[in-house]
Amino acid sequence: MKHFLSIEHLSADAIQRLLASAAELKRGRGAHAAQPLAGQTWALIFTKSSTRTRVSFEVGIRELGGFPMFLSKNDIQLGRGEPIKDTARVLGRMVHGAVIRTFAQQDVSDFAAFSNIPTINALTDDEHPCQILADLLTIIEKLDHLRGRKIAFIGDGFSNMTRSWMWAAKHLGFELAVAAPPAYQPPAEFLAALAAPNVTVTADPRQAAHGAHVINTDVWLSMGQEDQTDKEREFAGFEVNAALLGEAAPGHIVLHCLPAYRGKEISAEVLELHADTIFQQAENRLHVQKAILVALAAASAPDSKI
Ligand code: CP
Ligand code: NVA
Repeated sequence: MKHFLSIEHLSADAIQRLLASAAELKRGRGAHAAQPLAGQTWALIFTKSSTRTRVSFEVGIRELGGFPMFLSKNDIQLGRGEPIKDTARVLGRMVHGAVIRTFAQQDVSDFAAFSNIPTINALTDDEHPCQILADLLTIIEKLDHLRGRKIAFIGDGFSNMTRSWMWAAKHLGFELAVAAPPAYQPPAEFLAALAAPNVTVTADPRQAAHGAHVINTDVWLSMGQEDQTDKEREFAGFEVNAALLGEAAPGHIVLHCLPAYRGKEISAEVLELHADTIFQQAENRLHVQKAILVALAAASAPDSKI
């Protein structure tokens, strides 16, 4: 694995290996002598806001012996229109790896191609692959395994989170029920390309939540959509609240990638009741991203055959 750009193009084996490595890194945190990023500088190029992703990557890179360099788009020429392929060709000659949060998935792919250094997708409009790994690790920790689990996603049915969830379901085979207003459901062409009969889509949140072991949600307005208040109105009835959880399986858990908007996609009551899981999910960003960094460092080592 030279880059980590999407769940779509990750194999089930690669996902399982990363999850196992993340669990091991989590158990051994603070006791690891290995410093696979020793002497390396990793650029964090962010054109969108972030709390969890930025902090977890900065801490993770340091814990693995490397030096993180945070580059907000406003501080570099990218923000003034310098093409991503030029930014990539400069950074590729100076730093050892890059973590990118931006709008277009193509920009992350182009960066990887032009920089020729390990590149990680830290969220685009198409995918949020690091988050999905953290979510999967949390489910395994809380519910022991994914096999036979029903996961419900209530909210925007074609956001970066939902798309990554749909690809994860395709690769790993668990049941995924997406509930979204009709205008925010995945288009037929996407579902045809996905070709995953274990992924279902409905406009009825109760139907999706029925018998679910995991109830999952995300903001209705993703970054870049903040002024689309009309969109928000269409999500009335899609709040994850106590009534909806009444449909879920006994022992269910609730996930939210955060940040959360209480009273919109999730009630304050449900968020606080499930805060232990949700903040464990946030912490798991650190562990899964360390696993990704270790895997990419190994693949780019001079004698690597990967
Ligand atoms: N979940 C997530 O990616 O959070 P941030 O936007 O704070 O990084
Ligand atoms: N769908 C959200 C995820 C935030 C972590 C967004 O893109 O803003």
